[in-house]
Amino acid sequence: MAELAVNVDHVATLREARKVSYPDPVAAAIAAETAGAHGIVVHLRGDRRHIQERDVRILRKVVQSKLILEIASNNEMLGIALDIKPDVVTLVPESHEELTTEGGLNLIAHQNTIKGNAEELQNAGIKVCIFIDPDLDQIKVAHTIDADMIEIHTGAFCEAETDLEKQEEFTKIINAAKIARKLKIGVNAGHGICYNTIQKFKGLDEINEFSIGHSIVARSTLTGMYQAVKDMLELIKEL
Ligand code: PXP
Repeated sequence: MAELAVNVDHVATLREARKVSYPDPVAAAIAAETAGAHGIVVHLRGDRRHIQERDVRILRKVVQSKLILEIASNNEMLGIALDIKPDVVTLVPESHEELTTEGGLNLIAHQNTIKGNAEELQNAGIKVCIFIDPDLDQIKVAHTIDADMIEIHTGAFCEAETDLEKQEEFTKIINAAKIARKLKIGVNAGHGICYNTIQKFKGLDEINEFSIGHSIVARSTLTGMYQAVKDMLELIKEL
């Protein structure tokens, strides 16, 4: 069975909407783990729009499964990651204007900087995952720079409006997952996955881990985090 890493950023979004101390993403992470989540993900953004450094530091102390920190590949974030030492760092592109991460990292354009940053993290015992579009050239570069894992950006597939477009986008994900597995890179997938789109991944055994946030946090407002994670785990078990 593939693993489920639960992203609790949007619990912090609700907190930051009022600049109060609740709901706490740390409490949500504990509930997600209690329901069986295999990892907890947070994205510490440069603009601190949701997750704060305080959250990451406390999560490092309380997460029992695996703490995955998403960051932009820059000096400020590298310093924080090397200090807090999550189990995994996922390098993502970031821009202030975007509502959420809009695409994978362009490894071809930023190969040297990313390689240097990835090496520093790996030398500190942190596994490095790189968030990229399902593009064979990007995967080849991820292999060249010795990334431990890639996370395939599933946003275009999840947001596709027609069946044809959905099928085309999913074919890219299948091809990307298979080539990455051949190159012996770990394969994760995430962005935009919900309780419906997850079912399309049936039979795609190359994916080790799904990273899912918004749909789980959204459901948790109605069912509680424990039940929302259990529901997603049931669907992943059937893939
Ligand atoms: N993976 C990455 C790299 C992301 O940036 C995000 C969004 O923060 C996710 C997965 C989770 O996406 P969603 O919230 O749409 O499930």
